[in-house]
This record gives sequence, structure tokens and C-alpha cells, in this order.
Amino acid sequence: MCGIIGYTGSGSCAEKLLRGLDRLEYRGYDSSGISWLDEKGKIKTVKSSGRLSLLREKLGEALPKSSCGIGHTRWATHGAPSDENAHPHCTDNVSVVHNGIIENYFSLKEELIGKGYTFDSETDTEVALKLIDMYYKKEKDPLSALTSAMSRLKGSFALGVIFRGREGELYAVRVGSPLVVAFGDDGNYIASDIHAFLDKTDKYFRLEEGEIACVCPRGVRVTDRDGRERSKEILTAEFSLSAAEKGGYPHFMLKEIHEEPRIISDTARSMAELPIDKIIPWDILDGIIKEEGNIRIVACGTAMHAGLIGKYYLEKFARVSVEVSYASEFRYSDPIMHQGDVLILISQSGETADTLAALRMAKERGVFTLAVVNAVGSAIWREADRSLLTLAGPEIAVASTKAYSAQLVLMYTLAAKIARAAGRLSEEAETAICRGLSDTVPKAVEGIAARDREIKRLAEILSEQDNAFFIGRGIDRYLVTEGSLKLKEISYIHSEAYPAGELKHGTISLITEGTPVVAVITDKNVADKTISNIKEVTARGGEMIIISSDDIDIPPELSKTVFRIPSIGIKGNCEKDYSGIFIPFSAATALQLLAYHTSVLRGCDVDRPRNLAKSVTVE
Ligand code: F6R
Repeated sequence: MCGIIGYTGSGSCAEKLLRGLDRLEYRGYDSSGISWLDEKGKIKTVKSSGRLSLLREKLGEALPKSSCGIGHTRWATHGAPSDENAHPHCTDNVSVVHNGIIENYFSLKEELIGKGYTFDSETDTEVALKLIDMYYKKEKDPLSALTSAMSRLKGSFALGVIFRGREGELYAVRVGSPLVVAFGDDGNYIASDIHAFLDKTDKYFRLEEGEIACVCPRGVRVTDRDGRERSKEILTAEFSLSAAEKGGYPHFMLKEIHEEPRIISDTARSMAELPIDKIIPWDILDGIIKEEGNIRIVACGTAMHAGLIGKYYLEKFARVSVEVSYASEFRYSDPIMHQGDVLILISQSGETADTLAALRMAKERGVFTLAVVNAVGSAIWREADRSLLTLAGPEIAVASTKAYSAQLVLMYTLAAKIARAAGRLSEEAETAICRGLSDTVPKAVEGIAARDREIKRLAEILSEQDNAFFIGRGIDRYLVTEGSLKLKEISYIHSEAYPAGELKHGTISLITEGTPVVAVITDKNVADKTISNIKEVTARGGEMIIISSDDIDIPPELSKTVFRIPSIGIKGNCEKDYSGIFIPFSAATALQLLAYHTSVLRGCDVDRPRNLAKSVTVE
């Protein structure tokens, strides 16, 4: 959701800013720009709509020599992607890059127009800029101008700012949207996330709410809204640079899918020995088991789909009922929550605005919050009562794949541990689930990833189409919801997911000769029912692609395009039939590869699909 970078030091800033923007491009990529201070201390700016390569072209071979500057890669909110709306926005005195939303931009704009300011763009950022400019003219001091402006701006924003004549000084403001400050050998950085400078340094700290940093080549000073100085602990980034590189794969998405076996195993092992009362305090858990309290899962997009799988297994193993909500709906729905409930927040980035808002709302009402996050130190990670880490490492492709698989591991583990605590699952079964997640599942997923070619053949059917449907029952219904999202976001094929039995209640009218329908059948208990629904589709000319477990009989006339998944689950002395419980992992990987190959065949930008951004820090 927009990427910010800034550098000040002894080196030249332009190449560093461009390299940082390259790494941040996953946050938004419809325009970009940089500002720097020239040898006379004047602000210079070059910006361009479109991808970063166009900015490089505009800058030409002779990059500016300046050693202090800021850069930005945009995900449009206010105003279309255009040169005018691209950041940085500048006056003679100030240049600003911004991530987030200024909610009261309209009233401020009117006030500034009344004071003689004019506006060249449609952005809320230009309003923030002119406000800072106004205070800077009055107060003649960058820090007090920023503090005054901050007290007037409403919303969630991170700013990177340079001032004319203030050589070597870079300012960073954080209200809601993430910003980090890092220390390199030849200078210091600000950025929206640590990947921007990992080739230069791994030493950094995060700005907290309402903090302003003045970053100079030799040091950093951080103050709060009231001008009080704050001391910061310097952290060491745990990610290696290789996470931010493709490692021989044509796309990050494919690389990340192939990382799933290791990630599943690492995440499962990290959870196996964790006692349940280190996850949810006993008194609250006891209330949940006695049905005095409720579990709710709140998240967005793919993370929410992982929550649906969590619901399925929490209900299956632990027999506690679970509600799953989109965070954007949950926060405005006046949800019924009581002390004694548990709110589980799932988020890869740990910064998603709606999920964070849901968390804060629950905390205000005294509800216990448990976060499942992929980014240590992110806002959701820090603010939740307890946080569990998915060990997926940085996910660069905009479409989430490996983080989803890691979220599934946590959902299964949590379900098994709660079920065990409730006495609804034997110790033997719990151990078998944990062991299966760390050993059997990774091998199975590796097996699916190795069958890339077979999946590519299925993708050839989809890639020619403009519309597709996904169907499934029970757990498969939740899997196809994610499979459909993956397909539409990276291949631009319109796609809808339906419970298989629901198709005939309206949507089947859209099935005509050749309409592709992807069916997932891993749940033996409802396989025959789904097969009947498939027959209803083929009777109307629909073209089936079936992903099914290998212990389910598919009628020969339907088996032309079947992708068979080995059935994996728990064998032996369990209280119930858990023989196929791990198939969702394999099916999820197969669906991810199906979307991936379809996108490649259609010539789409797999890692950076249009209109999207990785970390959604606006609501
Ligand atoms: C889809 C995708 C999004 C995210 C959603 C939530 O591939 O990545 O749907 O899952 O924006 O993001 P996080 O998990 O960062 O809260």
C-alpha cells in the first residue's frame, strides 16, 4: 500500500532510492518518484506514472549526485495513476512522500485554498504537503512544522519529508502506517519495510504511533507528538536477502509455492510443544469449552480463507462453534463480543488496517485477542494479547501462497490443542496431527509441486476463458473459495466459488457450452453429492477440471481432466475417521499452481497483478 524509502549519508542517494523502490514495488506500483536536495540545497523531483522502469528512463543515465533524498512507489487511493498524482509532492520548501489516507483532507484543502494555496493533483498527500509548508513558513523549524501538521491530520499515514536547505536531514512521521529507520555503514534509511534496505543493513527499529524521526548521516533523533525525546532499541532483521530474491525461479510466486514444504514443517515444529495455556489462558479456554465464551476469527482475503479452514477443524476436532468474519465487515457491524470470548486475528503482514481495527475494538471491550501473524513486530503482532508466528518468511509475490499454507498449519494445531484440552481428542491423536503436519504434509506438498507439468495442462483449459466457477462441499468449499480468489487476482479471469449444492439455486444459469468449472473433492463423506452436482454441470455443457483425492471414485466419463491427490491423514487408533484430514494442504498447493500457470499462459504480471498491493494499510 505505497512504499516509502529515504536515504541520507555519505553515498549518492539516487541508486539507493531506486533499489529500495524496486524491493518495495510489491506495495503498489502504479507510479513512482524521487526527490533529492541538490548542491544548493534546493529540492529536485522526478516522477512518472507506470512502473519503476519508466522512472529510471526519465532519470536517464546521469543520476543526481545528491546524498539525501526520498522515494515513493504508489498504490492509488485519491486520484488516478498519473504523473501529477505520483509522489513526491513538493513546494519550493518541502517534499513529501506518503503512505496511508488523510481522512480530513477535504476540509483542510478548503482551509488551505482560503489561505491562497493552489493544488495540482487530486491527492490527499498534496494537502498534507501544503499544511506542512504553511507551518514551516510560520515556524521555520522542520520538527515543529511536522508536529503542528500532525496535530491537524486525521487518518492513518506515514510520511517521509525533506526540507529545502536542510542538507542531510530526512524526516519520518508515523501515524498508523508502518515505517522503519535503519542504520547502514555509509548512511541511514527510512522505509515502509525492512526489505527496502536489506542489501545494506539489517539494523533497524520501528517507529511507534505518533513518533517523528529526524534522520541524519551520523544519527537519529526520535520525538513524540509532544516533542519529548524517545529512546529506541535497535533490532537485527532476521530475514536474509535471499528471501527478497527469486533464487532462479521465474517468479516470486512460484518460488514461494516451492518453499511451502519447509515452511509447513518449520511452522508445525514451532507449535508442536507449545502448551495450550501459553496460547489461550486457562480461564478463558475453560469458558470456551463450556460454551460460555465464543471463538471468532477475523481477517481479510486469503487470511480470512485460512480462517474458514480453521473454523472447520475447530468445529470438527474440538466441537466448539466458530464464527468467521471479514474484518472490514466485522468492525462496522456492532459485533456481539463479551469478556470471555476469543478473537483470532489472522494476517500475513500484521498491518492490515481493517484487521488491526477489529483487534483494537475487541481489546477495548476486554475480549482476549490472539494474533496469527507472519511479521514479528508488526502492529497486530505487538498489540494482540498473544501472538503466534507463521514461519513463512517474507512473502514478496502479491498473491499470498506460502503464508496461507503456514496459516493452515496454525489453524490445525490450534484446533487439535483446544480439542485435546476439551478432552475431545486423545493425546495420541493430537500427537499424530502435530507429527503429520511436520512430516507427512510437507512431503505430500512437495509431491504436488513436483507435478507442475500436469497442472499446467489443466491451466491451458482455463487460460482461454473469461469466466470460471469453482465448486466444492464441506472443507472443499473453503478450499475453492481461496482457489477462485487466487485465479481471479493474478489471471484476471472472472471467477466465482460456490458450495457445489448451491449452484442449481441460480448460478447454474451461467453454465453454457464450454464454461470451465473447477471442482475440488477431497471430503469422502460428501464426494457422491459433489459428483452429482458435477453431472448437472456437464449435462449443460460445462467443462470440468476435477481435483480429487485418490481414494474417491470418479466416474470414467468425468475422468478426462482429473488431478489426483494422494489421500493423507491419520491412520490408526483415533476416535474418529481422520484418514484424509491433511489433503487440504495438497489441494491448496494444486490450486495455487493452477492459478499461477493460468496467469503465466495469459501473459499477466504474476507477481504484481494490476490494481493490487501487498500490504493493505487503508480501510
Ligand atoms: C490474496 C491476498 C490478500 C491478503 C489480504 C490480507 O492473495 O494476499 O487477500 O490475504 O489482503 O492481508 P494480510 O494477511 O496481510 O492481513
